[in-house]
Amino acid sequence: MKQLHRVLYCSRSRLPGGAAEVGRGLRQILERSRQNNAATGLTGSLLFTESLFAQVLEGPLEALCATFERIQCDERHHDVTVLEFLPVRAREFPHWSMAYAAPGPQALPVLKAALHGAAGPEAGRILAALHEVVRGADVGAK
Ligand SMILES: Cc1cc2nc3c(=O)[nH]c(=O)nc-3n(C[C@H](O)[C@H](O)[C@H](O)COP(=O)(O)O)c2cc1C
Repeated sequence: MKQLHRVLYCSRSRLPGGAAEVGRGLRQILERSRQNNAATGLTGSLLFTESLFAQVLEGPLEALCATFERIQCDERHHDVTVLEFLPVRAREFPHWSMAYAAPGPQALPVLKAALHGAAGPEAGRILAALHEVVRGADVGAK
């Protein structure tokens, strides 16, 4: 089996408009992500809070790199800050082509701190917040 890798990053949203339009933009991202990721063997989880994203994406290196390159060029967000990119033995989110839920208020300071640089220790906390996403109320299709 090919070596699995995982990327964890956070970024600032550029989704335009008010809450309804932002919600539509987010749904479009999720829909496309779930289609593409299911087709390329990627899994992961997305967190979106007050204009910040955090995402973990995992799978075979080639598919992961190709997808993450597209994500980095996507104008719907900016300030993409990679917190970790590493080989892993197993997936954190094996059953999710892209899980999503609006996170609790505790996630916000963690994301903001991560965007301001403190990558190392923050990676673990953000991953924990993304696990909350999966344990908590999701959101539709896997
Ligand atoms: C925050 C964020 C997360 C995204 N996550 C994914 C993802 O997990 N998988 C994916 O294929 N595209 C993701 N995208 C969308 C890509 O940037 C890109 O628009 C899409 O992959 C293009 O796919 P297409 O060529 O099939 O239209 C994400 C975009 C944003 C802004």
